[in-house]
Amino acid sequence: MTPSGGASAAGTEVAGVAVRAGIRAPSQHNTQPWLFRVRSDAVEVLVDRGRVLRASDPEGRGADLACGAALCNMRVAVAATGRQAVVEVLPDPHDPDVAGLVRIGGARTVTPEDHALAGAVARRTTNRRPFVDRPVPRRLSSALSAAAEVEGARLLVLSPAQLDVFAELLRRADQLLAEDAEYRRELADWTHDGGRADGVPASAGGPCPEAGALLALRDFRPDERARPAAAFEQDPLVAVLTTATDTRRHRVLAGVAMERVLLAATARGLSASFLPQPLEVEDTRSLLVEALGGCPQTALRIGHGYPGVATPRRPPGDVIIGAGGE
Ligand SMILES: Cc1cc2nc3c(=O)[nH]c(=O)nc-3n(C[C@H](O)[C@H](O)[C@H](O)COP(=O)(O)O)c2cc1C
Repeated sequence: MTPSGGASAAGTEVAGVAVRAGIRAPSQHNTQPWLFRVRSDAVEVLVDRGRVLRASDPEGRGADLACGAALCNMRVAVAATGRQAVVEVLPDPHDPDVAGLVRIGGARTVTPEDHALAGAVARRTTNRRPFVDRPVPRRLSSALSAAAEVEGARLLVLSPAQLDVFAELLRRADQLLAEDAEYRRELADWTHDGGRADGVPASAGGPCPEAGALLALRDFRPDERARPAAAFEQDPLVAVLTTATDTRRHRVLAGVAMERVLLAATARGLSASFLPQPLEVEDTRSLLVEALGGCPQTALRIGHGYPGVATPRRPPGDVIIGAGGE
């Protein structure tokens, strides 16, 4: 690590904690579209434009969400070391590649919640397997909504009627994406059998939902015919994260809120996976806005699952850049 601006040894150590937590954030297809720059009193997260998905994320929304999630992990990990940690989004009007930074301040008392959230950073995984048919108690879903609210976003837990509308848009979007050759090529490029530090390994996949299943999960291996089908939970909990506006600031903040929700879920023994396809197709995105209001940023399936499989990450040395951006 090459801190710029004369960071002390203790500061460098905390910055290392921040980066190691940041890289555990979720990202679409595990592209890890981030770079980190260590300053004397802050660690910046920059969007790595070379890793933004051209076909499925032409506007860089998913990359902003991922960078926001990295900021959340960093803040949580630094806070658990007993140092103040504050997220600033888009801090440099002259450099839009800086999605945000975590400013590291003086000493603070570590709370049990800090420990719980920081402990969840390494345990959180995307769980693509069927969940147990046991409803998520209201007190837990309310805790997740509260976690989003703390970060200035809204987690809308869908009612049965809203879930029907969502599931229909999900099926439509998934179908449209599957018909797009560029999208399929990109998906294939980021899916593999292991041996890479990025992308989605086969080991992290789940079974195909049975024919007629309510939720269309993104099929990472559409050509693999032998994959067994399985029954998924009958009554899934689906929640949509929305923000007040759709500015870039709110997209990065949505990433912070999304990760806060995922960490809160992990800390409470819940599993989650992503259902973002309706947001990736213009037509279904506007229908979802009409149906739910607000500005939807991502959608999650949440429930009781068996522990998921951790995916690889590029090591800190590969993602930390110097002050000159090299
Ligand atoms: C914006 C975004 C979109 C995602 N979309 C999907 C998806 O459609 N299907 C899926 O199974 N996982 C999806 N993921 C999860 C990533 O594939 C996952 O975060 C990545 O492979 C790293 O694995 P981990 O979350 O287990 O650490 C998405 C993640 C993000 C941040």
